[in-house]
Amino acid sequence: VPPSSGPPARGPVPPLPVLGSLPWLGGGLPPHLLFSQLAHRYGSLFALYLGPHYTVVVNDHQHAREVLLQRGRHFAGRPSMVTTDLLTRGGKDIAFSDYSPLWKSLRRLVHNSFTLFGEGTGRLQDIVLSSVDSLCAELLSGGGRGFDPAAAVTRAVTNVVCTLVFSATYRHGDAELQEVMRYNDGIVQTIAGGGLVDIYPWMKVFPNKCLRKLKDCIIVRDRLLSRKLEEHKASLSDGDPRDLLDALLKGKTNGGQKSSESEDETITDNHVLMTAAEAFGAGVETTSTTLLWILVYLLHHPEVQERVQKELDEQVGSERPVCMSDRGRLPYLDCVINEGMRIRPVSPVLIPHTAMTDSSIGGHAVRRGTRVLVNMWAIHHDPEHWDRPDLFDPDRFLDRGQRVSPSCFLPFGAGPRVCIGESLARLELFLFLSSLLQRMSFTLPDGAPPPNLQGRLGVVLQPLPYKVVVTPRAGWEGGAK
Ligand code: HEM
Repeated sequence: VPPSSGPPARGPVPPLPVLGSLPWLGGGLPPHLLFSQLAHRYGSLFALYLGPHYTVVVNDHQHAREVLLQRGRHFAGRPSMVTTDLLTRGGKDIAFSDYSPLWKSLRRLVHNSFTLFGEGTGRLQDIVLSSVDSLCAELLSGGGRGFDPAAAVTRAVTNVVCTLVFSATYRHGDAELQEVMRYNDGIVQTIAGGGLVDIYPWMKVFPNKCLRKLKDCIIVRDRLLSRKLEEHKASLSDGDPRDLLDALLKGKTNGGQKSSESEDETITDNHVLMTAAEAFGAGVETTSTTLLWILVYLLHHPEVQERVQKELDEQVGSERPVCMSDRGRLPYLDCVINEGMRIRPVSPVLIPHTAMTDSSIGGHAVRRGTRVLVNMWAIHHDPEHWDRPDLFDPDRFLDRGQRVSPSCFLPFGAGPRVCIGESLARLELFLFLSSLLQRMSFTLPDGAPPPNLQGRLGVVLQPLPYKVVVTPRAGWEGGAK
């Protein structure tokens, strides 16, 4: 689109009233691929109507940085959507709440509570490492024959989040953990199916099986979290918060009450519940899917797995578990994690942003209320910035042995809406992956083809189910030390 003072050029065809460009968006392609295709034809910045919503789509990193960073405040709004309104009691969370002072306080509270766990105390590391031991034991017990690692990985990550949010640690097979996993999975499966309802909100008057299932899962989730909340209220003390629920409850009494006491300005139990619920929604599927994608690529590239293991053997050895302080000595492992997040961003199109004020992108006027979609897939596969973007090549994050982070690599977004769990996620990815590869090797079952690389798009971009064979490395036959 040549810079001009008008809005960005429209997408594929002149939009129809109401239906807009939607009829032309069929063809079965998921949005990130469709938008990438349209970007080839119309340029990296274009606009179209998704139902009644005029939407600007950003497909390159310069414009993405403008939206997220340079004019981050202008574009920090979120649209209201049917499925996410259901999920969050009308935006009483962080990810789907519109920009407001209350959203800011909630973000700060969650951030502080993660910092309290993570930095200095090492508590977070202990929580993750205990989950690592159970995961390794589980993988090694089932892994001699080919088996699907997805459930075990998701269980391990869910366990970490349960400890962080309400201090529960579960054993394998615990009924409450199963319940958490069941409703989480139900939400993940159905929210992606909400689809058209989010484009045409009036559709919710029609019976919709997905929406029904979503509501049922939300009821189970809210019952469990409300019980945890009441238990926390009853045992809250003046000391340091034990977990995220404590931190939110303390924030609610300390800073969150405003004189007006209106629902819009006060942290209520609803906000505490929805924010706690979001740690699961935003923190489990993303982290476990990233790990599962990295395993997929290690199966395609056994030489990368061997190189990581060599680095681990030289820098850590097999006498003790890996810990966070080893990170500086394991640059190649870090590059493998980054390359996994580049080539298969779990959130290939970021959560929709909205313009909170009249603004501009790339010199084009963008009116207040416009929806803006950032296509991270296109940015992470842009051949102008990535040599052979479809190739899994961790070395692209190394320059003469030093780690580099190119400005077109934005797996957690950036600016006011940047992912709040980035350091938690990075800590988990590092400890899980390093521990797994220190203790075991992953190979394909005899005669099986390498896993499919296309994946399928639900709430996140997931690999299709695949099987691995797990073999313990010398000294780690039992899984833990
Ligand atoms: C938002 C990525 C893990 C909590 C986001 C966004 C991305 C992202 C791309 C959207 C940014 C935007 O809209 O511009 C990831 C990835 C993860 C991960 C790749 C793991 C590999 C987590 C974890 C948590 C978390 C572990 C918390 C427990 C959130 C929240 C938001 C968010 C609350 C919304 C922030 C806001 O709208 O203000 N994440 N995330 N994420 N993430 Fe994550």
